[in-house]
Amino acid sequence: MTHLTRRALLFASGAATLAAAGAQLQAAASPTFDLRARRTSFDFGGGPTHGLASLADAAPPPVIRLKQGQPAHLRLTNGLDEYSTMHWHGIRLPNAMDGVPYLTQFPIAPGDNFDYRFTPPDAGTYWYHPHCRTMAKMAQGLTGALIVEEADDPGFDADIALNLKDFRLAADHSLLPHFTPRGAARGGTLGNVTTINWQVMPVLDVPAGALVRLRFVVTDVTRIFKLALPSEASGRIIAWDGQPIEEPIGWPTSDAPLWMGPGQRVDIVLRTPDTEGAEIPLINMIGRTPHQIGTLRTTGPSLARDLRDLRPLPRNPYAVPNMAEAEKQVHELVFGWTPEGNGANNGFCGTYEYTFWSINRAPWPGDAQGPSTPLATLDRGKSYLLRLRNESPNLHPIHLHGLLFKPVRSSLRPVLANYTDTYLLMKNEVVDVALVADNPGDWALHCHVIEHQKTGLSGFIRVT
Ligand code: C2O
Ligand code: CU
Ligand code: CU
Repeated sequence: MTHLTRRALLFASGAATLAAAGAQLQAAASPTFDLRARRTSFDFGGGPTHGLASLADAAPPPVIRLKQGQPAHLRLTNGLDEYSTMHWHGIRLPNAMDGVPYLTQFPIAPGDNFDYRFTPPDAGTYWYHPHCRTMAKMAQGLTGALIVEEADDPGFDADIALNLKDFRLAADHSLLPHFTPRGAARGGTLGNVTTINWQVMPVLDVPAGALVRLRFVVTDVTRIFKLALPSEASGRIIAWDGQPIEEPIGWPTSDAPLWMGPGQRVDIVLRTPDTEGAEIPLINMIGRTPHQIGTLRTTGPSLARDLRDLRPLPRNPYAVPNMAEAEKQVHELVFGWTPEGNGANNGFCGTYEYTFWSINRAPWPGDAQGPSTPLATLDRGKSYLLRLRNESPNLHPIHLHGLLFKPVRSSLRPVLANYTDTYLLMKNEVVDVALVADNPGDWALHCHVIEHQKTGLSGFIRVT
């Protein structure tokens, strides 16, 4: 058997893998991506679901692969019947390329297009989704993995993105309402069909005896995944929310699953079993009950790789906060219910008739015009602490655009100081995170449970 390169495996390891992993768009040949948002249908099993949104026909949005430090040009054509934008979640990019309506660009009209150009400074696992009529389009499926490849190939035998997302389907396969007001006012409205790359319970082929990089991306609008792998599997977690980890994260098992809020990513290297046909279940824990959501299956003869062959991923070139300075400049952000409802629709990007949530007591329905008042104004280049205070019994994955931050301390638990763009706040948790305000612009900050974002839990931070 000839040695298969990683690329050969990606593209030739069988129809099952290709179908389940979805199309891959590679930056190698051309740095320009022509992306067209469109309506489509898809069969999740038993019959077609209409009214979905994708960048491909009858298929999930592709995995987009960029290269660290190389300019990218992503042209989004809006082939939908409503306004749109695209946001590149987790990428540190120029503010004008961030895809947030009104805050950074005017929403893209149907039939129109917008050129997103940026050079990703950090390698890692990111993702993309619209930021206009966000609830509807994400519930309809318009979310995909965005991979920034390391400048030097780290030497995995296969590299697979797993887009974890639920759909809300009725018995006749049609889409149910994207959320319920009851859910939006509480923990969120869960979907009922869990998918990986739009496949229900896929079997993903991986080479045997290999070092396989798995990139889990939670793109669901609501569900907090509690990921577990077999405790006897051999592997380790190598990156969290895009960044190579600095503090180790324990192997996720059914006794101690890895909690991943909407928007979060984890990179895991798995040393697959040597035998062909071995199956590794991918588990989401719901309470104490394991739910299998997919399977990895080994193919081919063992590549006889060793976990010790792995070089650590290089650290990305983000700035480290000056903690003495940060401790003196604290901005508190309080996440809670809103004192008053105000669902006035102002703009093209969708507002609901109710508001339930607020930041610092002010509700802003996200993706809307205004408010023009930032939650905080930070001097460029200085270090700050943000104190994230959850005054509600619900969990909120708090996401900041354009900047990375480092958890420092929590009122509830030890924190791992791995840099991130999204922190999953527990019930009544208060956490301090540190950052360097080194990217100028107005950066959205919101809960990534989209029905919370769209009913008030949204705002922005200004870096001057
Ligand atoms: Cu992934 Cu403002 O979002
Ligand atoms: Cu984002
Ligand atoms: Cu929330």
